[in-house]
Amino acid sequence: MLSISVKEFLFWKKKQLSKGGDQQSFALLLDCIAGLSNSDLNLLNINPYGRIYLKKSLKFLESVWEEHLLTSHPIQYLCGITFWRNLKLKVTNKVLIPRPETELVVDIVFKIYGNKTQKLFFAELGTGSGAISIALALAYPLWDGIATDIDQDVLEIANENYINSSKQSNLRFYCGNWWTPLERFKGKFDLAISNPPYIPKHTYENLPKEIKDFEPKIALLGGEDGLKHIREIIQKAPLFLKEKGWLILENHFDQGEKVKQLLLKNKFTSIEIVNDLSGIGRFTIGRYK
Ligand SMILES: C[S@@+](CC[C@H](N)C(=O)[O-])C[C@H]1O[C@@H](n2cnc3c(N)ncnc32)[C@H](O)[C@@H]1O
Repeated sequence: MLSISVKEFLFWKKKQLSKGGDQQSFALLLDCIAGLSNSDLNLLNINPYGRIYLKKSLKFLESVWEEHLLTSHPIQYLCGITFWRNLKLKVTNKVLIPRPETELVVDIVFKIYGNKTQKLFFAELGTGSGAISIALALAYPLWDGIATDIDQDVLEIANENYINSSKQSNLRFYCGNWWTPLERFKGKFDLAISNPPYIPKHTYENLPKEIKDFEPKIALLGGEDGLKHIREIIQKAPLFLKEKGWLILENHFDQGEKVKQLLLKNKFTSIEIVNDLSGIGRFTIGRYK
């Protein structure tokens, strides 16, 4: 631990932020690398003449911050950590950084099931860091879930995140293409969730550098029209869901209506396009018959 005066630290902090970047990213750097949480930071203003203890030197923190600013490397990857809902998750460049808007998927589940405690079986297809499944497994200890992904390395990170967040054993991780690893659970799921890759090819080619150069292409690109994976997931969902089972999908900002049509075509009912906090139809949900 390195000891430094609060005054010196606050001066240094102001200098770093004047170089660019946003407060939230800087706070993540301080929390994950220096060991200074947001509440520690708030206390500094009350005690400006005290001293603080840092896990790493200001020089090291500054080098990470400058790398972030100069190369657009996401701060979450540089720190190896992100915060999502109430979870602290490990992230590497193998996994998509879970987005704040995706947090609403969990709220949609809460809205459908409330605090029902009965047993229920869910699947998440394309779990990435494991964020959605871990949040559900923690919120509903009596539920059982299977989280899948096409990439075994991704599943290892998701599993590590689950072990670090929970002492439960109600979530399993299977590797394979969408529904394929779940063949033996046909007709068994009460609920399936997916935030699949849905960015259309042209949009993908023009994504900002901080996404396109650093986040996994396989987690983002949804084929020519962005709907390649959503189509496959919806078409096979009736084989795996119980009757009246729910399917919850995240989609691109303008895909809601098309996803709704795909659900209708595959005999889903109670279909609804759910807005995110910016009023964008980000999620499409439906029940199988
Ligand atoms: C948009 S990311 C979502 C990750 C995470 N669920 C979240 O919301 O942050 C899509 C995930 O689907 C996985 N994936 C891509 N193609 C897949 C496929 N054919 N079968 C299963 N998973 C796939 C990717 O590896 C990635 O982890």
